[in-house]
Amino acid sequence: MQDWHQKAIVYQIYPLSFQDSDNDGIGDIAGIISRLDYLQALGINTIWLSPVYPSPWVDHGYDISNYKNIHPRLGNLNEMDKLITEVKKRSMHLLMDLVMNHTSDQHPWFQASRIDTIGGKFRSMYVWKEGKKKPNNWKSMIGGSGWQYDEVAKAWYWASFLGFQPDLNYHNPAVKDSMFSIMDFWIKRGVDGFRLDIFNCLAEDTSFKNNPASLRILPSEANPSGFFQKPVYTQNTPATFIISKEFRQRLDSISNKNAFSVGEVFGPPQLLRAYTENNKGLHSVFLFKTLHAGFKAQKWKKLIQENEIYFPEPLLPTWVLSNHDKKRFISRIGNDEDKMKCISFIQLTQRGIPFIYQGEELGMRQQKLNPIYSKDPVVKKYGTTAARISRISGEAMNRDECRTPMAWNDNKNGGFSESDTTWLPTSKEIKFINSETATQTSNSLYQHYQRLISLRSSSDIFTKGKTDSVKLKSKVLSYQRNYNGESITCYINFSKRKVKYPVKMEKIIFGKLEKNRKDVQFLPPYSTTITKNN
Ligand code: GLC
Repeated sequence: MQDWHQKAIVYQIYPLSFQDSDNDGIGDIAGIISRLDYLQALGINTIWLSPVYPSPWVDHGYDISNYKNIHPRLGNLNEMDKLITEVKKRSMHLLMDLVMNHTSDQHPWFQASRIDTIGGKFRSMYVWKEGKKKPNNWKSMIGGSGWQYDEVAKAWYWASFLGFQPDLNYHNPAVKDSMFSIMDFWIKRGVDGFRLDIFNCLAEDTSFKNNPASLRILPSEANPSGFFQKPVYTQNTPATFIISKEFRQRLDSISNKNAFSVGEVFGPPQLLRAYTENNKGLHSVFLFKTLHAGFKAQKWKKLIQENEIYFPEPLLPTWVLSNHDKKRFISRIGNDEDKMKCISFIQLTQRGIPFIYQGEELGMRQQKLNPIYSKDPVVKKYGTTAARISRISGEAMNRDECRTPMAWNDNKNGGFSESDTTWLPTSKEIKFINSETATQTSNSLYQHYQRLISLRSSSDIFTKGKTDSVKLKSKVLSYQRNYNGESITCYINFSKRKVKYPVKMEKIIFGKLEKNRKDVQFLPPYSTTITKNN
């Protein structure tokens, strides 16, 4: 691992919703460039850019129709080069989103594949099966058969996600070569690595046997079984783990071991760890259990311990609270900024890579949107009733609800765009939740992030130290971080009451303590503190 991998603090930009520069109601690359100083002031050192490639935008970029160009509504290659230069100027790194698993059905490869002869060059780039009947019982990741019948080819093609996203055939070496050459193309332009979309679905089993039955109705982040089957032949297959190593070799060789990768994969930690192949596979993988830990100290304690067990050095755990697919974390914990300060404190004081989704640092909330107007293809597939039910259950099928434009100020459209309409509505709270207000308000959530990031960046103890003595007592979660003979203790008071602390804390390097007249120290309600132990 490179030093910068260990120290990365990643900020995810969802380009369509970050900053509009030409006032068409959609964010763009020039807009992103104009906001780099904001990210730098926050202390961010790495950006993950959700897809910016040409795409019919049925899944807003996760359906790519050309991997070596930029969507015209977002900019062009010159602007992308400028973004890379501007990012480098600020000593930051840039990760692109690489959707290797599938293309758009509008991609010229797929169009050629439909009319190609069986076994032909293009036909064999995708996973086709001839015959009248569905080839087997395989379900897509989000339910329903993943087999799609194509009237032109008179055959079935496999799609792990939605029907318009046909899976590439990774048993065909030419597909791997094409994907690796795309990777080379961007690395040569100066990109520092990739976030790899649904990497778990890359290579289907060539036996095409039925997936075995399961009693589970819905899959979860930690258990991919669902829709009454175990996806053993469609997800996390042995062939996919092999590709993770090949991918790493290629990435290391073209980037001189500088580039970084993070895979979007789902499953229990021991399985996810296998994608890193002891640091010979992907550099890291998303660990999504955190999304469901809520404000429960016991769960966070377990996660911290689990990550130390499964992802010890040189492996890097990841700390994710939300992203463009998931409910905004603050809205899972009652839109409470104090609680959000506690959770982001864990994220920013642990070893591993924190991923911050745009607006999370401001406390931007999940928006309740009418699913009738949803732009999300998942809602289009399952319908508005399902979207409403999912909201009641505490999740969010309608992914538009976490993708609303970034709130910069309380001007028109929150400063996101001058346009009269924006591609998704702006959030309802822009008057009081926006970056201009947050940066100027002392003790705001933004300032809490900024201080913690600056502390994290100032000492290797946070990024390289071991985590020891994880304890939970009287609703106070604490852990030590030790490195090179130095030691600090981090405390999170999960209680709404102040908690007396038995040990006399002296050298406080973050947060504040309350004292009574007798000089007894207390951790304030929902507070975070770091002390230096030596
Ligand atoms: C990933 C992306 C999501 C997309 C899907 C299909 O989960 O994060 O936005 O819809 O893959 O590419």
